[in-house]
Amino acid sequence: MDTRPYRSVLYIPGSKERALEKARGLAADAIIFDLEDAVAAEEKANARRLLAQTLSETDYGPRGKLVRINGFDTDWAEDDLDVIAAARPEAVLLPKVNGAADIEDLARRLDKREEFANTTIWAMMETPNGILNAAAIARAPRMAGFVMGTNDLAKELGCRFRPDRLPMQVALQTCLMAARAAGIVAVDGVYNAFKDDEGLRAECEQGRDLGFDGKTLIHPAQLAVANEVFAPDDAALDLARRQIAAFEEATAKGLGVAVVDGKIVENLHIVTARQVLARAEAIAQLQKALE
Ligand code: COA
Ligand code: MG
Repeated sequence: MDTRPYRSVLYIPGSKERALEKARGLAADAIIFDLEDAVAAEEKANARRLLAQTLSETDYGPRGKLVRINGFDTDWAEDDLDVIAAARPEAVLLPKVNGAADIEDLARRLDKREEFANTTIWAMMETPNGILNAAAIARAPRMAGFVMGTNDLAKELGCRFRPDRLPMQVALQTCLMAARAAGIVAVDGVYNAFKDDEGLRAECEQGRDLGFDGKTLIHPAQLAVANEVFAPDDAALDLARRQIAAFEEATAKGLGVAVVDGKIVENLHIVTARQVLARAEAIAQLQKALE
């Protein structure tokens, strides 16, 4: 699995030159350069040209870089791939994935061009069929990550937006389960009210507690909250270190378990504790590289 942080994954409309420029200085762990929903039909051709040129010329540093193309049920997808090939994209994000066949089809297209030799595939999980087929999709060729498309999903389900996202839970958790079973990244959906920091924080915390690696974002103002919530905080780091120390001490005495803060610590907790420290280290390295 990709060990890079994906706390904050910012959508940038491929048509917006100013935003593409601005992204070089933003604290996003990863960027989704969008040619799909954020780009109007009459702008598609210009956006893919602008994006291919920008990606070829601009150093976005160590951030993850994904290009969201249009779906192959539209007239745009083949041209998107053709034009974007020159930029040798790190990852292609396919929207409205319904089943593994959609990924296999894209993988075959990527196989045909040398420029895509190292390109991974990410899937937008945002249709009822996609959710029902999540396990097979996660294991399809080149798959490296899921992005929850909660706006499209709400539209398809006919469900309402609620602060607790109860109507979304089955979909969110099914996709998370499938992603973890296949060892790929899972990033939560967007929070539409981009000026509501409190609401964003609550939704980030819910996504984090469910197990997501991070959140997709629509506006730079959302970066700080996602970066904070999805990073291990001081208390988590302190606990991880104390668990490891206590467990090593117990092991040295021939014991298989330790107790920290009145709670049992077994080998499996140590695996988690080491992951917490590794994640903090990966975040620190990325931040240093972005400075
Ligand atoms: N990525 C990078 N920069 C962005 C950005 C983004 N997603 N959204 C806004 N900015 C920049 C603007 O260019 C502006 O820069 P400047 O002040 O230096 O010129 C600055 O951030 C402030 O933008 P603001 O005026 O507050 O927002 P806006 O009214 O221009 O745009 C949105 C608001 C929601 C339309 C815009 O954020 C956007 O297009 N977001 C992405 C939507 C998207 O990709 N949707 C598809 C997935 S759901
Ligand atoms: Mg969508």
